[in-house]
Amino acid sequence: MFKRIVLYWVICGSCLAAPEPVERHATQLRVLLQQADAAYYNNGEPIMGDAAYDALRSQYEKLLVDYPELPALSDVGAVVPEDGGPTAHTEPVLSLKKAYSDDEVLAFVKRCGVEQTYCIEPKLDGLTVVLRYQNGLLVQALTRGDGKQGSDVTTAVMASGCVPTRLENAPESMELRGEILMSFSAFEALNERRTKDGLTALKSPRNSAAGTLRLKDLAEIAQRGLQLRIFEVIQIEREVPTHTEALARVSAFGLPVVKSRTFSGAEVLPVLTEMNRLRADSSFPTDGLVIRLDDRTAFKQLGATAKYPRGAIARKYRAVPVETTLLSIEWTTGDTGRLTPVAHFEPVEVDGATLQRASLHSLDHLRALDLMIGDRIEVVRAGGSVPEIIGRTSAPRTGEEKPIDDPE
Ligand code: IVH
Repeated sequence: MFKRIVLYWVICGSCLAAPEPVERHATQLRVLLQQADAAYYNNGEPIMGDAAYDALRSQYEKLLVDYPELPALSDVGAVVPEDGGPTAHTEPVLSLKKAYSDDEVLAFVKRCGVEQTYCIEPKLDGLTVVLRYQNGLLVQALTRGDGKQGSDVTTAVMASGCVPTRLENAPESMELRGEILMSFSAFEALNERRTKDGLTALKSPRNSAAGTLRLKDLAEIAQRGLQLRIFEVIQIEREVPTHTEALARVSAFGLPVVKSRTFSGAEVLPVLTEMNRLRADSSFPTDGLVIRLDDRTAFKQLGATAKYPRGAIARKYRAVPVETTLLSIEWTTGDTGRLTPVAHFEPVEVDGATLQRASLHSLDHLRALDLMIGDRIEVVRAGGSVPEIIGRTSAPRTGEEKPIDDPE
């Protein structure tokens, strides 16, 4: 507890009034100085020379002259808090049931009630964190872990600078869930910097966001431009009736929230179409859409299975077809002795994988598709993985196409 109090003093302080860039710079300086202090006094292994240390300290002191509301520097020798190990969640952090087709979403809406109001929002693709605030102060940040227990990442989250550590006019207690994300542009900048420093490039913004919170180097965490979006209010004093109002309430405390819009059960298909289209506009990664009941009481009343809440569902984005050319058909014999046609096509990249073949399931299916060798075809990854030919493109045939031979 003592360590946490010291951390507050050092990291969050009361720097609400300085302009954003100054605040960021100040936070970076403070974490760097704090690390240097800890390395020197706690571990006896300095991470920088005296001159560098003094230069950083005087930089901060100069900032303090112009912005006296910035937190004062701690005395040297402050203890760097170690993040705790596994910590139990107050409520299990469940997954979401996945819907791979619009029909599955329609069935979900029918089960919950077509007359209900729903919310639709992007399924954010980063690292889920559970945040607890008391009297407006961030007291704990946990990862999802196995859903029952998560790792304590409070220090890293504070150092990231993307989670407000002090809220104005917040209630006595509140528990929220959100996603820590790395934008596509922050990811590019990070990899550029790594390449310049002779380090390997990181794989994806998602892995980078998760990896960043595991770093011990607080100054590096502060530099990576992580972002937060709250998507769930678990507990808040003065309950609110809807998810929409819950998000609006935490947003009013200065917390960034996911973009969520309401619709009526009858509108689900056009809304899915529009939200699919908006995917491309997102500045950070998303991997589908979340559809959920807006009414918090109805949501709670529906309860949950061991894995999923019944009042919400995740729709994978509709697969975007990619064009290629059909090269040949190979006939394979399965365990049952049945002949199965397999299409070979010019290699194409679909959702990050290179595809060049797809099963056509049966002779009947092949005939129904009415394909010829040399046809321009459309390929998708059905359910997000299995390659599937959905048909010919609308382009007219050139006359060069060859008929497909029947199996011998
Ligand atoms: S709602 C009880 N909304 O995806 C309601 N979850 O695979 C459950 N996620 O565990 C969550 N974006 O960690 C919700 N807009 C969003 C989300 C979201 C990302 C995460 C969340 C969840 C996981 C399910």
